[in-house]
Amino acid sequence: MRPLPLRQTLLEWYARYGRRLPWRETRDPYRIWVSEIILQQTRIAQGTDYYLRFVERFPDIASLAAASEDQVLKQWQGLGYYSRARNLYRAAQRLAEQFDGQFPRSYHQIRSLPGIGDYTAAAICSIAYRMPYAVLDGNVYRVLSRYFDLDTPIDTTAGKKLFTRLADEQLDRDRPGDYNQALMDFGALQCTPSLPECPRCPLRPHCRAQAAGSVALRPAKSKRSEPSPRYLHYFHIVSPEGTWVRRRTEDDIWRGLYEFPRIETPDDLPAEQMLSDARYAALIRSASTAEVLETLPPVKHLLSHRVLHIRFYRVSIPTPGFSLEGYAPATEEDLSHLAFPRPLAAYLERSAR
Ligand code: ADE
Repeated sequence: MRPLPLRQTLLEWYARYGRRLPWRETRDPYRIWVSEIILQQTRIAQGTDYYLRFVERFPDIASLAAASEDQVLKQWQGLGYYSRARNLYRAAQRLAEQFDGQFPRSYHQIRSLPGIGDYTAAAICSIAYRMPYAVLDGNVYRVLSRYFDLDTPIDTTAGKKLFTRLADEQLDRDRPGDYNQALMDFGALQCTPSLPECPRCPLRPHCRAQAAGSVALRPAKSKRSEPSPRYLHYFHIVSPEGTWVRRRTEDDIWRGLYEFPRIETPDDLPAEQMLSDARYAALIRSASTAEVLETLPPVKHLLSHRVLHIRFYRVSIPTPGFSLEGYAPATEEDLSHLAFPRPLAAYLERSAR
């Protein structure tokens, strides 16, 4: 492939328009690692807040490894993808035990840590250690597929191979960390998924998709998977013993987080039907004084492959003696320390007002 001024243009653009972000002020691989894991699932603005709070609470590998999983998840509450927090924590524990608390310096050792894939390993190695590893994320796919006007679908083995090679070819080997982050910022700010700023783009004279009129078609994808629905009914039950909760331990969404008593239905079930359903009767069975104080309109919560339809029911049991297998009562103080999935935390916050 003939050399094109991609690298140089991106680095110049980055020097001018690149974002000043707290993890760009450090070379500490631990902090760069934390920032990359957080940024995999959130926008920069929200991610920055989480990052600053996280590294203040856990400033190094030792403090993270010494925490409890609940403490780590609490810090993560609201970010979603909790397996990432658990992996971060497990990796810190492994580093504390096997690597003397030091962050490894080899790509392969870094890549072998829980929760660290090709992208994160390349990001850490290039940014913290200036090692020549090209990152491949959504931004990189988009910018490269447009710049070279490639119609190979990125969600195929052939596409991954092609873009991996191309990303590596284009990498600036003297400044891999800056180059990688330039590409990410460029994709986030300039070469955006919809309505990219082509008229003002410094790559415009060389951008083949621009010339071909195919910008909106890049990157090409082979399939679109619709998220499938789940219907969850949550019962916020308060009895004299406290608020009834459990920790999710099964291999499913939100593992390790807390929830209220739950009934899941295969289809949408309106609140009135749920409350006259045998499953609700079984849940509340021992509590003759149970009173439903409020039923909320369903809320929709989007996960990567799922769309959750959640209904909340506020239930009061004024007399003592309620019990529910698998669940335990929590005090208000307990609740403030437990990590809840985002829609449940939002519900709790709203109901406290
Ligand atoms: N997204 C993930 N990591 C990033 C980084 N280091 N800079 C900009 N955007 C990112």
